[in-house]
Amino acid sequence: MEKILKLFVILFIRFLTTKCDPCLTYKVLDTPDAITRSVANAAYPSTLCDNTLEAGWYRVTSYAGERMPTECVIGGNRCGTSYSIWMNGTYPDAGVVKTVEACAAHSDGDCCKYSYDIEVKNCTDYLVYNLIPVSPCYQAYCFGTELKCPEGETSDNGGFTPECEFDPCHSSNYEILVGEIKRSSNYTLQDNDVAIEDSRLTTGWYKIDSVTGNDIVNDSVSMMQCGTLYPLWMNGSIPDVSEKTIDRKVCYSSNCDWEFDIKVRNCGNYRTYYLTQLNVDKSAYCFGTLPVPDPTTTTARSRPGKDYNDTEDKPYIWVIVAILAVLSAILLTILLVKFVLQRTSQKRSVSCVSVQKTYPPSYEETLQNDKIKQLQKNQTERPYVLEHQFIPIDSMLVPPNSTYYA
Ligand SMILES: *[C@@H]1O[C@H](CO)[C@@H](O)[C@H](O)[C@H]1NC(C)=O
Ligand SMILES: *[C@@H]1O[C@H](CO)[C@@H](O)[C@H](O)[C@H]1NC(C)=O
Ligand SMILES: *[C@@H]1O[C@H](CO)[C@@H](O)[C@H](O)[C@H]1NC(C)=O
Ligand SMILES: *[C@@H]1O[C@H](CO)[C@@H](O)[C@H](O)[C@H]1NC(C)=O
Ligand SMILES: *[C@@H]1O[C@H](CO)[C@@H](O)[C@H](O)[C@H]1NC(C)=O
Repeated sequence: MEKILKLFVILFIRFLTTKCDPCLTYKVLDTPDAITRSVANAAYPSTLCDNTLEAGWYRVTSYAGERMPTECVIGGNRCGTSYSIWMNGTYPDAGVVKTVEACAAHSDGDCCKYSYDIEVKNCTDYLVYNLIPVSPCYQAYCFGTELKCPEGETSDNGGFTPECEFDPCHSSNYEILVGEIKRSSNYTLQDNDVAIEDSRLTTGWYKIDSVTGNDIVNDSVSMMQCGTLYPLWMNGSIPDVSEKTIDRKVCYSSNCDWEFDIKVRNCGNYRTYYLTQLNVDKSAYCFGTLPVPDPTTTTARSRPGKDYNDTEDKPYIWVIVAILAVLSAILLTILLVKFVLQRTSQKRSVSCVSVQKTYPPSYEETLQNDKIKQLQKNQTERPYVLEHQFIPIDSMLVPPNSTYYA
């Protein structure tokens, strides 16, 4: 019975002590504050004042660093405050609690304008601090020495100094290649194709956005694939995220008759590639392995009548077409009658207007249009709307074998 009681007492004491161990029960200084508290962070504008800080044990978790500086923050105006508080003392050994002097450094050169007794405990892997509120403002405790990397850079330290480096995964650092579906290794160069030529590509980082696949092809590819004459494939696998930026070779032909250097970066959900401008013609990097979708049918080519079905799905198109046809016929008749009656010599030139509707009007066409407008002015007053409809409808008068047709 006595033994049991003893055990309970021991357990109770252990429970109490573990509950009061600051290594286990501490508050965390919230992250945005913790970044601001870095010694590398200049004070302007002073935003931090620890006059409202609740007294108690704190642990700092921040990529900026977690240690209170043990040297004077000379001149203050650091750590997001005017009076920057540092620790005049050394850190204790593991498991030990130590009382140290916290000093508020000021711009007048005084390293200890105000001083406070605080406690610090070494919890082996981290430190905890018993902090008290301070006054007057602006005074704040400093922690850490690092800063966020500049925009477009990254580091192993969660994007903080030291060792910030260029980040090929940052959207400001790569260009996106869109609509390059013919780079697919599944695509064969056709007679009427213009070969993709990466002798025109600007050297730099690229991300590919294509329905045929966004990754570089890493199997040997034969001539005429990838929408070019001499396609380039990558010898090797796509690196893991942890491998960061990797150098790879791209090859032409299965024997790697030509070789070029590229870099690959795995950004997790996508990859970016450092592609160099090629010094050979009719050669290009291959991206994606999927078939190029058919532009007219969107699915398989072997489905005749798909076009017909498409329009059948939208019967109102036929109604519109019919109305337009009737209107055109009426207008045409009116115009024809007017022409026959009023024009003799200039009729021919007028009828040749705006034949090529896919291109903006050439200089000659513009002249012709002006002529028509002039002609219409010469006629009795014609409403503005008619004048505009006049041109396209009039083009129907041109015989199919006209020289204006390509
Ligand atoms: C730091 O503490 C030591 C010893 O406690 C003291 O001699 C020294 O003046 C203090 N430094 C400052 C800047 O107050
Ligand atoms: C705690 O003290 C030990 C030495 O006793 C030291 O090796 C360790 O780095 C200290 N922990 C921290 C977080 O400073
Ligand atoms: C392209 O893909 C289709 C369907 O997956 C396949 O039948 C065809 O052989 C491929 N062509 C090439 C050149 O890889
Ligand atoms: C191509 O890359 C994939 C994924 O990175 C890899 O699993 C595969 O082994 C590579 N193939 C070749 C031929 O290197
Ligand atoms: C691909 O790379 C490996 C290793 O670098 C090399 O041994 C191999 O010969 C290369 N393949 C070709 C086709 O050049």
